[in-house]
Amino acid sequence: MSNYHIKHLEEYWQVYRKSLRNPEVFWEEIAEEHFLWRKRWDTVLDWDFSKPEVKWYEGAELNITENCIDRHLTTRADKTAILFEPNDPTAIAEHITYRQLHERVCKFANVLKDQGVQKGDRVCIYLPMIPELAISVLACARIGAIHSVVFAGFSATALATRINDCDCKIVLTSDGSYRGNKTIDLKGIVDEALTSCPGIEKVLVAKRTNTDISMKSGRDQWLQPLLDAASKECEATIMKAEDPLFILYTSGSTGKPKGMVHTTGGYMIYTAYTFKNIFQYRENDVYWCTADIGWITGHSYIVYGPLANGATTVLFEGVPSYPDFGRFWEIVQKHKITQFYTAPTAIRALAKENLDFVEKYDLSSLKVLGTVGEPINEEAWHWYNENIGKRKSPIVDTWWQTETGGIMIAPIPFATPTIPTYATLPLPGIQPTLMNEQGEELKNNQQEGRLCIKFPWPSMARTIWGNHERYRETYFSTYKNMYFTGDGAFRDAVGYYRITGRVDDVIIVSGHNLGTAPIEDAINEHPAVAESAIVGYPHDIKGNALYGYITLKETGESRDQDNLRKEINQLITERIGPIAKLNKIQFTNGLPKTRSGKIMRRILRKIAEKDTSNLGDISTLLNPEVVKGIIENTF
Ligand code: PRX
Repeated sequence: MSNYHIKHLEEYWQVYRKSLRNPEVFWEEIAEEHFLWRKRWDTVLDWDFSKPEVKWYEGAELNITENCIDRHLTTRADKTAILFEPNDPTAIAEHITYRQLHERVCKFANVLKDQGVQKGDRVCIYLPMIPELAISVLACARIGAIHSVVFAGFSATALATRINDCDCKIVLTSDGSYRGNKTIDLKGIVDEALTSCPGIEKVLVAKRTNTDISMKSGRDQWLQPLLDAASKECEATIMKAEDPLFILYTSGSTGKPKGMVHTTGGYMIYTAYTFKNIFQYRENDVYWCTADIGWITGHSYIVYGPLANGATTVLFEGVPSYPDFGRFWEIVQKHKITQFYTAPTAIRALAKENLDFVEKYDLSSLKVLGTVGEPINEEAWHWYNENIGKRKSPIVDTWWQTETGGIMIAPIPFATPTIPTYATLPLPGIQPTLMNEQGEELKNNQQEGRLCIKFPWPSMARTIWGNHERYRETYFSTYKNMYFTGDGAFRDAVGYYRITGRVDDVIIVSGHNLGTAPIEDAINEHPAVAESAIVGYPHDIKGNALYGYITLKETGESRDQDNLRKEINQLITERIGPIAKLNKIQFTNGLPKTRSGKIMRRILRKIAEKDTSNLGDISTLLNPEVVKGIIENTF
């Protein structure tokens, strides 16, 4: 029996039990199976959650790009590694073979070296979903530079914060980007960000939209001429298993974004292993994950996991609604997609449209459907199952996080029976548990609690860049010797997990994690605003939308409130990005507070959800009278 590829439920249980009995042997056997190590490990695992410190495959040496590219050149050189589907549906899709990918990554790596990038340096990548994004990620990994990809929908301020937090010296970007029928001035956003990033010495610009941009002499260079002049051979820099591979920022409920640091060896093993099993990937399948590489889903399941398995991975530049709502299904038909992985928010948006958009296309190539990013509601699950999967493709509802690096709880297709809204069972090696608010472990089934993980797994983030204490505090201090996920979950009678949502002040809007504090900080910058509080409320496409309660410094009818709403959303767009805009803004005379001055978001959440029948005892509030006023003026 191979640990590496599970095909039946019985096999799952056998493998799972083995992974519990002896995790080190389990992960050692997997690491021995396919991978190219330049030096074998001395110890499989060394860990202490109290520090917290976790090390996998210590002593081992490798380069992840040799595993994702070079290793396949003997058997798969002419196989498509990356299938690029451009935004424009009439443009020709580009098939990048493993051989071509090797050449392009080596050239890019040589360009980075020529620009002075060295092992351990941080490289900020702010690119749209074009081949250069995946290639630049791999080029960094080739030379041991730490990539920090920033989603190209983030604003200049958000970009600058991320550049400065990890002291990047260089930014890789493009002139512009296409999103549906819009062209976005990406370079303009970079220029604006860099006015507050003194550490940036170089900017390399890929040409995509041919828009007129300004190039700052001495700092900015076009990428293509540098690539043309570069050698197509670049020896891989040998890394230690625990050397950082990348930093990826995620929102916290407070403070600035957290730069989650992922390391090389364990991340590679875990993303490769989970990709193979969760998507039941077979040679010649064509796998498509619709996420952006700017998020962890794209890192792990567009780039590293698929390529480590020698897969064909689709990279789609566009949006589901352009040129019409049939675009996803047109692509499935055109490339005979076998595995399709998307977010519940996309499913809900498409489910609202006419079924003709689906029925026009032949979706018979599909074998496995995936979802990620937020709980999937039953209605969306059934729509996906009936109309896309035609009731024959299992839906893998995959629960995981930027911090976990890879999928943690998910069915194994054709093995684990699925139930709508349940992420089902932990993957081999993963030991989830539920805790109550008193810090006790809930051992029985049929209970809801806070989801924690008891034992390390290879792809877990090792720290927060520059702030290990914050890492300890956020994830390891709530419950002793446990990784706390920040999510709530229910475990049913058979042990299936259903994720119920965040239990902290993070709100997931259209699958994107948004901390309330940074949005409130942005709003409070408006000169007219005294105070604000953001809560989430259910939204039929976004899952959650944002509701802002805002107290102004001066009340009075004289202010043009609609204009103020626009200004506030504009400010949020500038500081964070359009994804954080508020759907509803209610101006209030005050915010409900405890006697110690803490805003009672719980009450505001209930009001936003229009569930005011049971607000609890509000008489102990500092200002109970404001609650009535807020309810009366709710939308
Ligand atoms: O609340 C959970 C939710 O998304 C959070 C992680 O967000 P992020 O770090 O941006 O990573 C998203 C992609 C992995 C989790 O704490 N979440 C993710 N997947 C699911 C989910 N909630 C329910 N079901 C899921 N399948």
